[in-house]
Amino acid sequence: MKNALFVTGTDTGVGKTVVTGLLLKFFSEKGLRTITQKWVQTGSCGVSEDILEHMKFIDCGENLMKLHGEDMAPYTFKVPVSPHLAAEIDGKKIVSEKIKRSFLKLREEFDVVIAEGSGGLMVPINEKETIIDVAETLGLPVVIVAENRLGAINQTLLTCEALKRRKISVAGIIFNRLSEEGESKMFEDNILTIGNLSGEKILGELRFNNNREYLYQNFLPIGEKLLAGLRVKSR
Ligand SMILES: Nc1ncnc2c1ncn2[C@@H]1O[C@H](COP(=O)(O)OP(=O)(O)O)[C@@H](O)[C@H]1O
Ligand SMILES: [Mg+2]
Repeated sequence: MKNALFVTGTDTGVGKTVVTGLLLKFFSEKGLRTITQKWVQTGSCGVSEDILEHMKFIDCGENLMKLHGEDMAPYTFKVPVSPHLAAEIDGKKIVSEKIKRSFLKLREEFDVVIAEGSGGLMVPINEKETIIDVAETLGLPVVIVAENRLGAINQTLLTCEALKRRKISVAGIIFNRLSEEGESKMFEDNILTIGNLSGEKILGELRFNNNREYLYQNFLPIGEKLLAGLRVKSR
């Protein structure tokens, strides 16, 4: 059974890479041949930093990169700015067809492909297209990573609204805590309010922790809830 997911975020730096790595480990441990993709990496020389991060979550990462590196990261640019500008600075142009070809090649070979976006959904890749256009043409269900903080309700509902407008299916929302701030009613209320107003499935919340194994244990029920909705068969 072939499956694919697109991981977007409410913003840049909200935890898309960490969640993509956790999804990679989760599906791999279910016995599914899983790979990740970073459509456009900016701020990296040659090798995609996000792909390197994803690979830290599994044992055979180096091998995957050796065999499929180019399709895993079809575009990498040096300057850490929006993809359309990073490409322009490097004298290049991002062609969505190339991203799609790489994606389809990976999907052919793997059970699950998890693609990470750049920034949020409305980030331009060239003068005509944004990241959401690529996700739409590939027909990928979307996992939304929302940083749980002040402002999360607005950013997450806007993300949901953009997906709804294009009839793109949402596999669920994962909240992420990016600080060690103590408990406050706001964190809990953000989740409840976003669930109520968006009508989308809330998959759970990742706590702040720098340890990958801790994060993975925290992620397990989130992964199971996602899997139940996807009806992916483990081997
Ligand atoms: N739950 C978490 N606990 C601690 N640090 C986190 C957590 N989630 C993300 N981070 C850290 O926050 C930073 C941004 O996360 P990242 O996954 O790279 O975001 P994005 O891919 O959306 O830009 C990284 O340094 C990452 O290691
Ligand atoms: Mg990232």
